[in-house]
Amino acid sequence: MKRLGLLLLCSILATTALAADAPQKSLYVRLGGYDALAAVTDDFLGRLATDKNLSRFFAGHSKNSLGKIRQLVVDQLCAATGGPCVYIGRDLKTAHQGLGITEADWNATVGHLTATLDKFKVPEKEKNEVLGAISSFKNDIVEQKMMK
Ligand code: HEM
Repeated sequence: MKRLGLLLLCSILATTALAADAPQKSLYVRLGGYDALAAVTDDFLGRLATDKNLSRFFAGHSKNSLGKIRQLVVDQLCAATGGPCVYIGRDLKTAHQGLGITEADWNATVGHLTATLDKFKVPEKEKNEVLGAISSFKNDIVEQKMMK
């Protein structure tokens, strides 16, 4: 009986140790994979396009061009969260250079992304990881002054 108890204890300890060593699932998997990320992107871009202070950036693009940007954003987010996508778009600095995106535009965008993640009930930990990943793009996207 004593031996059985010891065996049980050993197996619980081993399982706990294994669980602690198990690699954490990628953010991409924890967010729900491709379809979840695509739905998040659509909601987020919908908010940007209908924000009267940000919509000017997207005016003048054909429907097809907007669809292409949307796909590239999905690919970018998928790759940035550890998913299997390969981002083949331009680097973000090149793609945004000359648009004159300001700090205020950036803050409004982060607000929209937060609202989207809240709408999809993304847990606090994952939400902070997504916002952390996005913040690493900020320097490539925000320009303090309009290009002359
Ligand atoms: C203030 C925030 C932002 C604004 C106003 C904005 C605006 C734009 C615009 C207007 C384009 C099209 C550029 C063109 O056709 O030449 C674009 C492209 C793109 N943006 Fe943003 N963007 C913002 C933030 C972001 C963020 C946070 C991401 C991160 C995923 C992102 C990812 C992309 C990608 C992947 C493209 C396509 C690149 C390509 O065409 O090769 N953008 N953005």
